Amino acid sequence: MALWGGRFSTGTAKVVADFTESISYDKRLYKYDIMGSKAHSAMLAASGIIPKETAGKIAVELDKIGERIEKGDFTFTPELEDIHMHIESELIKVLGDEGARVHTARSRNDQVNLDVRLYLRDEITHIVEGIKELQKSLVDRAAADADAIMPGFTHLQHAQPVLFAHHLLAYVEMFDRDAGRMIDCRRRLNMLPLGAGALAGTTLPINREMVCELLGFDFVSRNSMDTVADRDFMCELLSALAIFTMHISRFSEDLILWSSQEFGFIELGDAFCTGSSLMPQKKNPDIAEISRGKTGRVYGDLIALLTICKGLPLTYNRDLQEDKEPVFDAIDTVKMILQVFPPMVGSMELRRERMLSAASDPALMATDVAEKLVELGVPFRHAHHRVGAFVKWCKENGKALDQTTLAEMQITIPEANEGFLKLFSAHDSVKAREVTGGTGPENVRRQLEYWQEELS
Ligand code: ARG
Repeated sequence: MALWGGRFSTGTAKVVADFTESISYDKRLYKYDIMGSKAHSAMLAASGIIPKETAGKIAVELDKIGERIEKGDFTFTPELEDIHMHIESELIKVLGDEGARVHTARSRNDQVNLDVRLYLRDEITHIVEGIKELQKSLVDRAAADADAIMPGFTHLQHAQPVLFAHHLLAYVEMFDRDAGRMIDCRRRLNMLPLGAGALAGTTLPINREMVCELLGFDFVSRNSMDTVADRDFMCELLSALAIFTMHISRFSEDLILWSSQEFGFIELGDAFCTGSSLMPQKKNPDIAEISRGKTGRVYGDLIALLTICKGLPLTYNRDLQEDKEPVFDAIDTVKMILQVFPPMVGSMELRRERMLSAASDPALMATDVAEKLVELGVPFRHAHHRVGAFVKWCKENGKALDQTTLAEMQITIPEANEGFLKLFSAHDSVKAREVTGGTGPENVRRQLEYWQEELS
């Protein structure tokens, strides 16, 4: 008979046990369930609700149960539904009546909320560390080729020359915001839910502040009904993870394009690519592709969770048991991505010549010409028009922008002087963009130093 079997006259049908169980996946919370039960029983004893001696024995037995689960020496069964019931019934098995006191002034509704908060606190810490490692790998890779120039793209069309380092540092910025969102989420979730009971609190004189302190939470929840119904912290984390994978997916797309024959800008290390079972010549950027695909999976986790929570009346509803698998899946997925990305970034070889030659198309310097006209006092819109006409003239006359004479240039750009003919170097174009946040080498060097310092 289940621990809640008092008002039932028959046991649960086998299919029902299989259908309602969550132990197959929530067993991963065991450490946190034990941590919570130890703090809870210590508080019950300190508040005079259970004998001190009992709390002492409960703590010892909980540790033993934890060790057994760790070693794989513990039997899980669907009949006992979830991790909370497994641990409690084991306590009762070894301690009898004393074990039967642990679930005083507590419900699985506040308990499961507690376990997930404790679990996520740790996981967020790991993930934020992993993101830092990824950022470091990008900064190192950028620093190793700090002067490499490539074409920057808009609409996937060549736009203006940029430093390769500037491109990689753009991802460092994105991942920094991702880590920030997760840290922010961690701050909000670090709240003690235990003591909310099933939904309305308890008649017993518990001391929630003590449990809060024992478990390292920053504050105690204020409304018991909100507390047991709340899954915002999971939704927030999954949103942050979804945005993170969106960034990973964009980076993946860049890597996939860059390593294609058409771009030929980079080559990923052999260890980070796979071959084709049919075409012997193939070397495919599968890690990037799979990560791009896994992004869809993490979005699915977020949408599943939001949909589970939507429309639920207050307070706890069993639907909420379905919250854990998407959360676990998103976390596992992101942690795997964080393992493979840093070494893959490190394995990236640049084809600097190809990058530079693509960036050296003189058409990419058209904006530089227009801005030179602005320096001579021409309003930008007119300057833009004149350079546009120059590009058109070159096209019609079969000349590259850097192949005209000054007289030819002056047909469409009357203000042009000798200096204008020298505006077509990708190096100079990059160098001229020392504005804060621009791709100028000095600015990029400062950014690299900033991140090296920030991430050390
Ligand atoms: N396994 C349950 C869950 O994950 C624990 C809470 C069960 N509460 C209840 N009233 N049946 O949500």
